[in-house]
Amino acid sequence: MSIQIPRGTQDILPGEVELWQYIEEKAKDVCRRYNYQEIRTPIFEHTDLFQRGVGDTTDIVQKEMYTFADRGNRSLTLRPEGTAAVVRSYVEKKMYGHPNQPTKLFYTGPMFRYERPQSGRMRQFVQFGVEALGSHDPAIDAEVLALVMSLYEELGLKNVKLVLNSLGDKESREAHRQALIDHFKPSIGEFCEDCQNRLDKNPLRILDCKKDRDHPLMSNAPSILDYLNEESSSYFSQVKTYLDQLGISYVVDPTLVRGLDYYFHTAFEIMAEGEGFGAITTLCGGGRYTGLVEEIGGPSTPGIGFAFSIERVIMALKAQEQAIPVAPKLDCYLVSLGDAAKEKTVELLYNLRSAGVSADKDYLDKKMKAQFKAADRLQARFTAILGDDELTHGVINVKDMETGEQVQIELETFIDHIKEKTLGGK
Ligand code: HAM
Repeated sequence: MSIQIPRGTQDILPGEVELWQYIEEKAKDVCRRYNYQEIRTPIFEHTDLFQRGVGDTTDIVQKEMYTFADRGNRSLTLRPEGTAAVVRSYVEKKMYGHPNQPTKLFYTGPMFRYERPQSGRMRQFVQFGVEALGSHDPAIDAEVLALVMSLYEELGLKNVKLVLNSLGDKESREAHRQALIDHFKPSIGEFCEDCQNRLDKNPLRILDCKKDRDHPLMSNAPSILDYLNEESSSYFSQVKTYLDQLGISYVVDPTLVRGLDYYFHTAFEIMAEGEGFGAITTLCGGGRYTGLVEEIGGPSTPGIGFAFSIERVIMALKAQEQAIPVAPKLDCYLVSLGDAAKEKTVELLYNLRSAGVSADKDYLDKKMKAQFKAADRLQARFTAILGDDELTHGVINVKDMETGEQVQIELETFIDHIKEKTLGGK
């Protein structure tokens, strides 16, 4: 029996990968303009990092992690998200001591969650995310949101909706937490087992429960916005004012909770609206965190960031039939006739490539006609034809595949000729 790809993973083949590269390049370009620098962290970390960082009561930690013991019997976990790992590195490498503050980082790479796979929900997916560490300024919340919204706009994504909430500071959260306990406790028996466990540990999680979503107590649960103290409320107002100033529209949803434990103050999700997108509509999630750096052993430092998966952006682009970049065409294909000519094309090909031209030739001893077909399939801009006869006379035929025009040129000038025609002499 042949071996198949694991559930919830995918191969990204040529033809599709160009779209990935396009999105990744656009995202990196926006980060460059916003002055965020790339960080690369390992794909696995000590399990403890995510237990402490993401939170013990979250679905991610309780149900979705790929955790294993290595040969030295250490518990390791394939990263389910990027923030905890970036913060671990920030603390370990003492980035907080660097003169350039805040520390503004971006990352991209595979993340792993053992979830029930469906369209837009994978077990291995690629996140693109940013983290800005070390600033309490609400303007940086607006900057992070502006970054991702600009990126979506530049990718041509339409109908995206920014949903915003404030989860308040510690004091506001504590008041809200108590209100939630008082609200749910009398009827907690009607809720799922997970929610019953969450009641004392983290009642906010109950609001995020998929099973009990329709329970009547959900719709009139105490809203965090009613429990924000003055400082939290003013912080939230400032974030909104900055967004208004930048012309970034948003809706406030006091039920937005997020699936990770580290958030305080600003929390947000960006949703894809519109037909054909399917059941999963969250493109991006993020927010502000205060205790995470301390939890991981660093000095008390605030941070804010977001992450989205490239898979979901691709789904959204496809659902709205956005024009998608196609595979780049080949500059030149070399066709040969005769043994001496065939040998010569090896050298010509090498020289073309060294000169910056994308080029290829036949390696399957195909007849001339089949070589031309291959050039067509690769959509070569030029086809160069070399026979033993031409070789003896030091010439080569070059056919412009767009106009059909064919010229004979000196072999000596061939590389420069193609370079000039395709790269404009660059
Ligand atoms: P998250 O909401 O767990 O947040 O995930 C962020 C995004 O990752 C989601 O909105 C979605 O685009 C994508 N995603 C999550 N799970 C899957 C999956 N199974 N398949 C495909 N895509 C998925 C975080 O991960 C936080 N670290 C975000 C953050 C950064 N907060 C602050 N900084």
